[in-house]
Amino acid sequence: MTSTDASSLHDAFETIAVRAGRDDLTALGVHALPIDLSTTNPLPDIDAGGASYEAIATGGHPTEGGNVYARLWNPTVARFEEALATLEGAAESVAFASGMAAFSATLLAAMNRGRGRHVVAVRPLYGGTDHLLSSGLLGAETTFCAPDEVGDAVRADTCLVVMETPCNPTLELVDIAAVVAAAGDVPVMVDSTFATPMLQNPLAHGAALVLHSATKYLGGHGDAMGGVVATSAEWATAIRPVRAITGGLLHPLGAYLLHRGLPTLALRVRAQQATAGELALLLTQHPAVARVHYPGLPGSDPRGLLGTQLRGPGAMLALDLIGGYAAAQALTGLLRLFTHAVSLGGVDSLVQHPASLTHRPVAPDARPGAGIVRLSIGLESGADLWRDLEAALDAVLDGTEIQRPLAQASAT
Ligand SMILES: Cc1ncc(COP(=O)(O)O)c(C=O)c1O
Repeated sequence: MTSTDASSLHDAFETIAVRAGRDDLTALGVHALPIDLSTTNPLPDIDAGGASYEAIATGGHPTEGGNVYARLWNPTVARFEEALATLEGAAESVAFASGMAAFSATLLAAMNRGRGRHVVAVRPLYGGTDHLLSSGLLGAETTFCAPDEVGDAVRADTCLVVMETPCNPTLELVDIAAVVAAAGDVPVMVDSTFATPMLQNPLAHGAALVLHSATKYLGGHGDAMGGVVATSAEWATAIRPVRAITGGLLHPLGAYLLHRGLPTLALRVRAQQATAGELALLLTQHPAVARVHYPGLPGSDPRGLLGTQLRGPGAMLALDLIGGYAAAQALTGLLRLFTHAVSLGGVDSLVQHPASLTHRPVAPDARPGAGIVRLSIGLESGADLWRDLEAALDAVLDGTEIQRPLAQASAT
């Protein structure tokens, strides 16, 4: 064990996040993360090149023959993977062009293990994940269930249990250890996108795989798409060939941006979470709001997972508006400091209507309600965000802004 490895066992998350995946930079004589854009790599000779190709294509790491071809291996991506694995306490991680590419490859790898093609999926899930499973597109047969139904849903041919916590969009917390126990010997994959490795490490609670849409908090600036699965060496070896064959690669420029986001992850999450907590409380007082979904609010965490599984409530919240769809339509148009856009986890605040957008493909009986809007809280001043929210909700409440577009339309 090197001295860096030894000290990293005791370092705080912030320290690890600044240093992860950078151990060799000084020896390389560089300070910033290097970017290798090569799509192909010169081969020393046929034997060595072929041996390295074989090693990578079967899920391993390059040998003396080099990286061969960027669909097989890219050092900038591998560096980000090393950092993310470190933050999740995983042996390895495998990075992809998007969160959905990461999930697709994980699902294909799970179905390829010989156990079967049945998946148990704990709802609620991100709409894209739900859609991929309900469509059967990749050949999986899925049983959707509630967290306490996993034990009954698992079958002899179940190859994977899929869950998310905190859940998108309504922030339910699901007990990872309880799902793992109910799943028995079936591996559990946890989508931990909302938590980030700063707030939650699902592998420590028995999950076999943890997935992130890196597009969100990991990059943190809304300018890089990516997905990553952190897991054991055995699973990574099974997933990498799927990536090599299907080609859902993370581009090295994306890997660079995502890796560059990691040192500020803790700062961003902590600041965004503090603002979200204040806003959540204030929002519970507003008469236009029927319910605020936020794990930090009293009554939101019946299983007591906050502080044990989840180290903080995070910076996502959802509002159930008394005025339903019309109120959601009005609110998204009235807010000045929240961009009306899907995605989340960036430095700027966003608002969106899950039933119409991110969760549109979900079966009607599992789709979020028409009055629910989701907020991703950014790094703006909490006081400014509250002024904006309060003014918009006041206007929604008195109904003037809901009617304004109609009035304008009739005036023209
Ligand atoms: C919780 C969660 N998981 C997965 C995804 C999919 O990630 P991507 O959009 O990077 O493919 C998203 C996207 O919004 C998400 O919110």
